[in-house]
Amino acid sequence: MVDLNENKQRDQWGSKLGFIMAAAGSAVGLGNLWKFPYLAGSNGGGAFVFVYLVLILLVGFTMMLAEIVIGRNTQLSSVGAYKKLNAKWGWLGGLGVLAGFLILSFYSVVGGWTISYIVKAITGAFNTADLDLLGGMFGGLIAGTLEPLVYHGIFMIITLLIVVGGVSGGIEKSTKIMMPALFVMMIMVMIRSLTLPGAMEGVKFFLVPDFSKLTPSVLLAALGQVFFSLSLGMGCMITYGSYLGKDEDIVQSSMIIPALDTCIALLAGFTILPAVFAFGFDPSAGPGLLFVTLPAVFSKMPLGTLFAVVFFVLVLFAALTSSISLLEVTVSYMVDEFKWDRKKATYIMSGIIFIVGVAASLSMGPWSHIELIGGRNIFDTLGFIAENILLPLGGMLMCIFIGWVWGLENAIKEASNEGKLAFKLAPVWGFLVKYIAPLAVLIVFLQSSGILKI
Ligand code: PHE
Repeated sequence: MVDLNENKQRDQWGSKLGFIMAAAGSAVGLGNLWKFPYLAGSNGGGAFVFVYLVLILLVGFTMMLAEIVIGRNTQLSSVGAYKKLNAKWGWLGGLGVLAGFLILSFYSVVGGWTISYIVKAITGAFNTADLDLLGGMFGGLIAGTLEPLVYHGIFMIITLLIVVGGVSGGIEKSTKIMMPALFVMMIMVMIRSLTLPGAMEGVKFFLVPDFSKLTPSVLLAALGQVFFSLSLGMGCMITYGSYLGKDEDIVQSSMIIPALDTCIALLAGFTILPAVFAFGFDPSAGPGLLFVTLPAVFSKMPLGTLFAVVFFVLVLFAALTSSISLLEVTVSYMVDEFKWDRKKATYIMSGIIFIVGVAASLSMGPWSHIELIGGRNIFDTLGFIAENILLPLGGMLMCIFIGWVWGLENAIKEASNEGKLAFKLAPVWGFLVKYIAPLAVLIVFLQSSGILKI
């Protein structure tokens, strides 16, 4: 069983399932359950989903394997890994650390909302299908001052305690139960949602692409979401891959993880958007979609309150298995590069992340007048910089690094376990890494910055 806290002697994943579960635990989180449905909702539905799936195929699978290859080859977390392969490239790992830091600061705020919703579910506060009421409740929570901050703090403390105490035992074991549980729950809620009168409009919206809605900003949103949802572009999978043994089939793992992640995202879409249409809600309502529509669905289910409690607990778990991987990247950077004590690194970095998160949370309430990039508030600005710029940039540069600096032969040798495994798709993957994936990112960047018009 891996212990990410042990730096002196490197452990390895106890089983292949252990790695897949931990990596999938990092990938599956608020990105799938909270973000994907609302992004689809506000970016033209099917058009967004279509681009997302294309990018998963071209960029997601490719970069997943690329990150794991770097991690397993070097047996080091991201900054050290790049340095080991080429002394001049350590900064690329640093870019990822910055992205992880920024993401966790607002991720934890949303994680806090899920804790608040567990409490609300237990007390039966949202046992209603009245969307005005539910919307008001959500709006009141996120625009508040003390309440969201307290929950943000609680979420950060849980994350911190897990990272300090060792990721191995508890979390690794619990993901093995939680992930399948989440899957089964999602299917049950999805069935209820799909059978609501009027739900089919939502299915149509979600599946049928209207290509006139494909604007550069939709492209950029989909690209950012691919990286965010798969935990790519910031060295997280490099770190997790570094704990893999030399005889594991990493080609297969890097197919399973994106596939699982995409399944959960689609499930969330099929649950939330039909309900949005059935209840006559606005699909482009944004971050509140999960928190406003689902309670309405639960109120229409037998044992709805129980469902709601269990569901939000599972969402919290999914969020925690992602947040620990985010914190781990920052902490291991401070430990490796600045020789900080692990405990000190975890406490100090969590503290700073918490403070940035406070600003993110307040920017939806008392500080909403502060406008940063493109009129975005602090919360949205953090998301924009991290997801839409840093992650795709990190992924693109990683591909350039592999394809043009470290060398495809080395990467393919590692992916195929020194030729022991048949890696039939090696030439295709090589082509994708060297040309297609970085070009895809570049084109989206140029498009959305207005430089290129296709
Ligand atoms: N993939 C996680 C999610 O979907 C978020 C995350 C991003 C985790 C980047 C780690 C690194 O919620």
